[in-house]
Amino acid sequence: MHDTLLLFGATGDLAQRYLFPSLLHLLRDRLLPASFRVVAIGRSEHDDDGFRTWLRERMDDGERGDNAALDDLLQRIVYHSIDLNDADAMKAALSRYADRAAVSYLSTPPDLFAPACLGLKAAGLLEDPSRLVLEKPIGHDLASARAINATLRASLDESRIFRIDHYLGKAPVQNLLALRFGNTLLEAVWERRWIESVDIIVAETAGVDGREGYYAGYGALRDMVQNHMLQLLALIAMEPPSEIDADSIRDEKRKVLRALRPMTAADAARDSVRGRYGDGVVDGVAVKGFQHESDVGTFVALRAWIDNWRWSGVPFRLVTGKRMPARATEVVVSFRPVSHWLFDRPSAERAPPNRMRMRLQPQETIELGLMGSLAAPEWGATELQPMSLDLTMSPTPKRRIAYERLMIDALKGDQTLFVRDDEVEAAWRWIDSVSDAWREAGVGTQPYPAGSWGPPAAAPFLPTTLSGNGKRKG
Ligand code: BG6
Repeated sequence: MHDTLLLFGATGDLAQRYLFPSLLHLLRDRLLPASFRVVAIGRSEHDDDGFRTWLRERMDDGERGDNAALDDLLQRIVYHSIDLNDADAMKAALSRYADRAAVSYLSTPPDLFAPACLGLKAAGLLEDPSRLVLEKPIGHDLASARAINATLRASLDESRIFRIDHYLGKAPVQNLLALRFGNTLLEAVWERRWIESVDIIVAETAGVDGREGYYAGYGALRDMVQNHMLQLLALIAMEPPSEIDADSIRDEKRKVLRALRPMTAADAARDSVRGRYGDGVVDGVAVKGFQHESDVGTFVALRAWIDNWRWSGVPFRLVTGKRMPARATEVVVSFRPVSHWLFDRPSAERAPPNRMRMRLQPQETIELGLMGSLAAPEWGATELQPMSLDLTMSPTPKRRIAYERLMIDALKGDQTLFVRDDEVEAAWRWIDSVSDAWREAGVGTQPYPAGSWGPPAAAPFLPTTLSGNGKRKG
């Protein structure tokens, strides 16, 4: 396991909220090597002690573990203030770490990836066996993603590049693979003959507050669909790999992403809805709408089609939005109706389909919706009722920050949960088709009040399973 982490963007929001707390947990659980150390790099001016004090103030909230672990983490950190556009400064400050097995983690905006690579190369930090970890977004469209990937490739081999999609670090997301490929029962019906539709929902109650600048350039399509949602789709739709290694899995995910039917302007009005939240109430609190002169959306509903043998004709509905009434990340697989309905009650039309509902957040639950008959009918006809089989894991596994797993894997050199260059590009190719289709067809954002499930036009995209917590409020 590599033992030196160079963390660029160390004073940024992500580092404070997730990366340092993840390291703290890993140290506390003794999952890092004894010689582990962090070289923190940021723009703010601090000396080592100044940075440690700054970080302690942000982490010492009593919630994040015991002080001994925090003291341990802090004493392993040194800090450098460096301008990443200055390759000479990077070389002067960082070449001393080149003799260590180092992992450089760029938690920075993507426009700094290329200059940072130049500086890291000058400092000798991209030589084998060092590794490079990159945060999303990898570009803004296919052309910029290709340019980033070309720059990376010129500096180090793909086998040492780790592109983060933090959804892949979430245990319930990994469980999708376990469920699919660890069970004969599911895999046998996992295809167009038995499945009618698939819904993937990522609803957030949070808004874009504090990230308006970034968000205005990306919107929900680029911020959420290009990465997290298409990764979920790929895991649900991929063919079984022949082995469980990084490249076998990523080969299969790439094939799915390549098979996504590009959206045309003619499809755009039927297969998509865009929205932007206005003023409203979320969790009982009045919140302001998202204001920006551009037409960037905070909500998107899409119908995606995978043109291959397994999925031909099966709609994959993708819905994500900010300031929704509830936080919910879930995948709902709806099966086709039984081929010949025998029962009077309910009628074939009113019987809900079998459904598998995998909720990934905020709680991890798996439910299988079946039909059964529990009560003896008094009128002679058999009455069927929906029944739910609860497959929730017990005991509930320990919850970890997604980044904990990803950090360990990057230090160990396991790429399974990281996104390969060709996957990123295949995803952008489809996203570009959607944004081009919107532009050509003039599909603009429609307002929705904060605290509602998006614009009214999105109702057909929402699974009925959401209705339990108030579908189509507002
Ligand atoms: C990030 C997006 O990648 O994922 C955010 O940039 C979003 O806009 C976040 O809020 C959601 O992640 P999670 O883990 O809270 O579902």
